[in-house]
Amino acid sequence: MSVFDTIITGGRVVTATDSVTCDIGIRDGRIAALGADLGSAARTIEAGGLMVLPGGVDGHCHIEQKSAVGSVMNADDFYTATRSAVFGGTTSVLPFAAQYKGTSLRKSVEEYHTLAGPKAVIDYGYHLIITDPTDQVLGQELPALIADGFTSFKIYMTYDALRLDDMQMLNVLASARSHGAMVMVHAENHEMIKWLSSRLLDKGYQAPKYHAVSHSRIGESEATHRAIKLAEFIDVPMLIVHVSAEEAMREIRQAQSAGLKIYGETCPQYLFLTAADLDREGAEGAKFCCSPPPRDKAAQEAIWCGLANGTFQVFSSDHAPYRFDETGKLKAGTNPSFKQIANGVPGIELRLPLLFSEGVGKGRIDIHQFISLTATNVAKLYGLHPRKGTIAVGSDADLALWDPEVERVVRWSDLHDDVGYTPYEGMTLKGWPVIVMSRGRIAVENGELMVVQGSGKFLPREMSTAAEPLGRLAPELDPGSNFGAHILTR
Ligand code: URP
Ligand code: ZN
Ligand code: ZN
Repeated sequence: MSVFDTIITGGRVVTATDSVTCDIGIRDGRIAALGADLGSAARTIEAGGLMVLPGGVDGHCHIEQKSAVGSVMNADDFYTATRSAVFGGTTSVLPFAAQYKGTSLRKSVEEYHTLAGPKAVIDYGYHLIITDPTDQVLGQELPALIADGFTSFKIYMTYDALRLDDMQMLNVLASARSHGAMVMVHAENHEMIKWLSSRLLDKGYQAPKYHAVSHSRIGESEATHRAIKLAEFIDVPMLIVHVSAEEAMREIRQAQSAGLKIYGETCPQYLFLTAADLDREGAEGAKFCCSPPPRDKAAQEAIWCGLANGTFQVFSSDHAPYRFDETGKLKAGTNPSFKQIANGVPGIELRLPLLFSEGVGKGRIDIHQFISLTATNVAKLYGLHPRKGTIAVGSDADLALWDPEVERVVRWSDLHDDVGYTPYEGMTLKGWPVIVMSRGRIAVENGELMVVQGSGKFLPREMSTAAEPLGRLAPELDPGSNFGAHILTR
């Protein structure tokens, strides 16, 4: 009898730190051995000429969620989104279970379980979105959910339906600190967006391109600065998500230089799109409306720099897909004003090929940075490491076997989502995954999906050390210097 179910031979096995040519023995869905001459197995995969990388972990995507603008449902369900993800080399996803104001967080999670369980083809967990931080939610529901493995959540500083004010943010941050959860923040100044939008609309500037004007760089950096200051005050780590521009990035860099546990995320749209994409014929620009919006070439260069110099720890898709029809981007008609267009772009399948081709292939980042940004750091930040995000004995055998030489022109018709278009149509990308494995199962081979709906597993997550407070209390919160007042519970 073979010791292993599968052996992968002759590939270059690359992790966030190492690159070695060795064989991988897989048993019961996990990596059981790394070495030479591992013997025989029920199945052998010849990987000569290929790179064997950890499967990607997409730490930010929206699946079966309603948009904050227009209340429109995402184009992809858990089947099409996870199918699309795995074809692009991603083997775990973390979308969001959103709380609707006035409802319970637990109820949102239960609803997501019923949606994801029967449909996902790869493993998944959820971040929570907190929109209604009542005493009951923060005092009881949230701690119980964190203990159940929902160890991260997102809060919004904009969107009428989602935003928290500073007081609410402070309450949420204090609760995250007490219970060790990772806080993700959508940082844009709500009033600046409102002010600019109403001025634009009053003067008749309605086209999709004005979405890019209405969400200013300063509005993003002001909110980023404020969020970081609130986090510093409460002494809680924080991840600023979907950073679009140098101004916000500088705030993050500065906080990191001061030793704060502030993390940064960026996404493909900020490397490969610009505001000019929103200025396409007719309503076509609606396809590119997301928040924050894509900026310009200089911003793209700055974001590349932030990926290379370590300001960003994670590179996520922020896949938030809406069809270009009345069920999605055009819900308000074929000539919508920029305030009526659901925000978000698709990207779950191309996240890795885009960064591999244009980052690793063009020498902007190295392969280890690529793996850190797309898998290892994501797993670490969100309490999935070392089960996910790396290649090590004991880790799940979630692997993407890449052919670094194969070149393909991006066509939506070759992708596996249910969106109807891709913002990256026509780009030539070099380096694609050819075999993808999820817990030792071949999930994609020869361009075919080999796993069935409902075979993905829910991932309860651990607390992350990245979410542990520094222990650097602001003097006003430190009983040693505030006349003995105990304000934080932990
Ligand atoms: O425009 C975007 N990013 N839509 C998705 C929702 C969000 O804020 O991440
Ligand atoms: Zn957001
Ligand atoms: Zn998002």
